[in-house]
Amino acid sequence: MIPLNQRLKKVSQYIKGDYLADIGSDHAYLPIYAIENQLATKAIAGEVIKGPFEASKRSVAEHVLGKVIDVRLGDGLSVLDDINEVTAVTICGMGGPLIAKILNEGQSKLTNSPRLILQSNVQSSAIRKLLPNLHYTIVAEEIFEEKGHIYEIIVADYSEQPVSMNEQELKFGPYLLVEKNAIFYKKWQHELESLYKIKHNLNETQHAERLIEINGEINLINEVL
Ligand SMILES: C[S@@+](CC[C@H](N)C(=O)[O-])C[C@H]1O[C@@H](n2cnc3c(N)ncnc32)[C@H](O)[C@@H]1O
Repeated sequence: MIPLNQRLKKVSQYIKGDYLADIGSDHAYLPIYAIENQLATKAIAGEVIKGPFEASKRSVAEHVLGKVIDVRLGDGLSVLDDINEVTAVTICGMGGPLIAKILNEGQSKLTNSPRLILQSNVQSSAIRKLLPNLHYTIVAEEIFEEKGHIYEIIVADYSEQPVSMNEQELKFGPYLLVEKNAIFYKKWQHELESLYKIKHNLNETQHAERLIEINGEINLINEVL
């Protein structure tokens, strides 16, 4: 059995259906874990860079899973067939804007309306802004800390009428805002301190526009904390 870090284990709990596509798979640890733990029966491991692609192929071969995990080289969702039966897509360990870009550019490949499980390190708001345009509604979220890093997971399902989000929900996450756990406070307190530091170094006449933006962000965070 392959060992997996807590971050990807949490992601794996949300896998739906039997066919997983893990995009940006690196060593293919998540698809291997999913198959070995009966969370999926087949998987695609997609990678855009040759090194991690080769590493994925090696790990899959070592675990003798070549018949059920297809390792594919390519950019984002382009590794999926034009019409496919994928039931869950995971995109993990990247910034929110990159995850959003991958989804936006590859939206035509979401043919089977798979569940999206997206684990970002920063700027998750970019993902939340995009999801309603793709007809997806957030159904669960997590924020947690592992080895000194704070991560978020956004889980979204296809819906004919996606739920839209207000400014606060887009920035902080509709579920995270309700739960407001200790890590949520830690993240936004830290963000607030950084904004105050930036503000302190800005000149009122030279950086008037940036100051307005920063004050807006500070107010938004203060309203929530
Ligand atoms: C930091 S690693 C994360 C690996 C793994 N998903 C995890 O969460 O531990 C990000 C991986 O995504 C790959 N990647 C970045 N952009 C990509 C894209 N557009 N399409 C496919 N893979 C991509 C990188 O090559 C890298 O291997």
